[in-house]
Amino acid sequence: MYFGVDYYPEQWVFPYGGSAENPEAQWLHDAQLMRTAGFNVVRLGEFSWGLCETEDGKFDFDWLKRVMDILGEHGIQVVLGTPTAAPPIWLAKNHPEILPVDERGITKHEGTRRAVCLNSDAYWTYSKRLVENMAQALGNHPQLIAWQIDNSLGGNFTEAAFNEDTRRDWHLWLEAKYETIERLNQMLGLRHWGQLVTAWNQVPMPMAAPTVHNPALVLDWNRFCSDTIVQFVGMQAEILRRLTPDRPITTNLRALRHRFDHFDLADVLDFVSIESTAAIKSKPSEIACEIDMLRSLKKSGIKTPDGDTGFWVMEQKAGNVNWQEVNALVRPGVLRMFTYQLVSRGATAILFFRWRQSRYGSEKFHGAVLPHNLEGSRRVFNEIAQIGEELKILAPALKGTKVTAEACIIYTHDNDWTLQQPNPPNKFFSLREHIQLIYTALHDRNILVDFARPNEDLSAYKIVFAPSLHLLSAGDADRLKLYVQNGGTLVSTFNTGLVDEHSIVPDSGFPHNLTDLFGLEVQEFDTLPPSEENHLTFKGAFPTSHLHPAKLWCDMIEPKGCQILATYSKDFYSGKAAITMNTFGLGKAIYIGTQSHQHFYHDLVAWLRQMGGLHPLLKVPENIEVSMREKEGARVYFLLNHQNSPVRVQFYKPMHDFLTGSNIVGNYDIPPHGVLVIDEHPEVKTAG
Ligand code: GAL
Repeated sequence: MYFGVDYYPEQWVFPYGGSAENPEAQWLHDAQLMRTAGFNVVRLGEFSWGLCETEDGKFDFDWLKRVMDILGEHGIQVVLGTPTAAPPIWLAKNHPEILPVDERGITKHEGTRRAVCLNSDAYWTYSKRLVENMAQALGNHPQLIAWQIDNSLGGNFTEAAFNEDTRRDWHLWLEAKYETIERLNQMLGLRHWGQLVTAWNQVPMPMAAPTVHNPALVLDWNRFCSDTIVQFVGMQAEILRRLTPDRPITTNLRALRHRFDHFDLADVLDFVSIESTAAIKSKPSEIACEIDMLRSLKKSGIKTPDGDTGFWVMEQKAGNVNWQEVNALVRPGVLRMFTYQLVSRGATAILFFRWRQSRYGSEKFHGAVLPHNLEGSRRVFNEIAQIGEELKILAPALKGTKVTAEACIIYTHDNDWTLQQPNPPNKFFSLREHIQLIYTALHDRNILVDFARPNEDLSAYKIVFAPSLHLLSAGDADRLKLYVQNGGTLVSTFNTGLVDEHSIVPDSGFPHNLTDLFGLEVQEFDTLPPSEENHLTFKGAFPTSHLHPAKLWCDMIEPKGCQILATYSKDFYSGKAAITMNTFGLGKAIYIGTQSHQHFYHDLVAWLRQMGGLHPLLKVPENIEVSMREKEGARVYFLLNHQNSPVRVQFYKPMHDFLTGSNIVGNYDIPPHGVLVIDEHPEVKTAG
């Protein structure tokens, strides 16, 4: 298992480290210390363009080679970042057209990373040449095990730039999609407010305007910007695969926040890497949700340096960040626990951000493995070194294991982008919050979850949740039907099938293309402000632990063959169906026409479990998070105590504790922020 750190050797030369006689002396010292921490991999280089190409065409990769040689002497491997995330000042001066223009037409200036328009021809030309030169200079270095393309793409709000090169590419993209102007006018609905165009170059970019742009045009703009990012990564991947075919390619992603299609991007990578700021957030189920989303981006065709099929954590923040209002220290033990959370959900490599707190620059008070003063506190270093020791013990058991989920939540960026557009039926509705309610209910019952687009193979999942697929194409609707037809259980919710992939509302009933699947038609929907609610009255076997409200959105359902599970209890639609279930082929289609509070989703999961199919991993107290990795019947369980106090767990059969090598049976107290990694005791397994 790879365990390492993000290193910026360029920041540790004389006069910031080393000596006048030996300006790079610090590198050797760093490599020795890294070994002491147990690190076997380092990521380098992602912001080093200005140091690797000091003037137009004048390349110097020798310093990176010297660093890699030193790391090699200490048994440390290297992931090299292609440095396109930080173009040098000389490039912006020689080609100011690479600088990004914002939606008000104002140019953002050089002097920081990411000061580029990703559609700029000059930027592409210079990026290609840089990546080619880097791959030729360092691609065969024995320490190089993988490439990271660029860094945190879309970060610092750079998903879109409104430059003239962008305008040209936008028009070409639209022409390739719609072929004729008539079709473009039709499919984008440009008759609204009479905004018809007669030539491709008349189509606006959605820049600042008096009021909202056409939603279909904005959606296409989001798709176009996403395609641009994916093509930019694809361009670099093509060069790297050509020059260094045996070095896998990745890039580091954040929790599906940046505005591009993360699934599309994962398609052009060999493996997914993520960054995590888990230690600064409070809710474990929110962090778990983000990890599961990112793990789910690439489920097959994974190629990693060690052949494992998990994801990498390229930047696990080693301590405090520097971009919150108050950047508190991460409490002892918390970093360890959240690192285990990543491993428990499928991470096969962990690299900490960053090696040492920088002495200068905008991130100089960002946390790190080591402080500015190397003789200073070793608190974080020691905690990380302990994790390293433990992962060495666990590595043989984890090798080749995977997270296998029984439940799946459908998510598409197209839908999320559409729901974030202005003028929705209820601006207080948030898809992410809605998904989180469902995810949390599954997480709290220790049920493993994947995320997927509807066009993936869903057949392995016992249950699929498809929350608020407002935008749903006929093809995707058919895939959901096929899943149920063949025996699956689908749970969909309000705000589904309201528009097709062109953002056009159907002139038949809601949910579009799915009324037969659910055996109903949504005839009207009411929306409520957060201060108001309706209530649900349940019929039959649905277990209700609380009175459940209907919040934000109430679909008025006309049953057409479905069974009614709950109705609304007040207002003019009192008594109308709110939750229903329909048998379709061999499966069941459940429709929840409203949003409720967290207790409802816990009850929903309890009911779905009763119906069969879903298996919580272990029976543990509420505040213990459980995840599991398995291979060929061998199961490794992770139990995480997110509390600041010990939590007692009861084991009815003997379990084997990997970290201590001892056996556990009966009561066991997991310490505050403690971690337990176990499997069934071998004797029990043989006996079973
Ligand atoms: C990441 C980025 C790093 C660093 C870090 C700070 O998104 O990749 O370079 O800036 O944030 O937390």
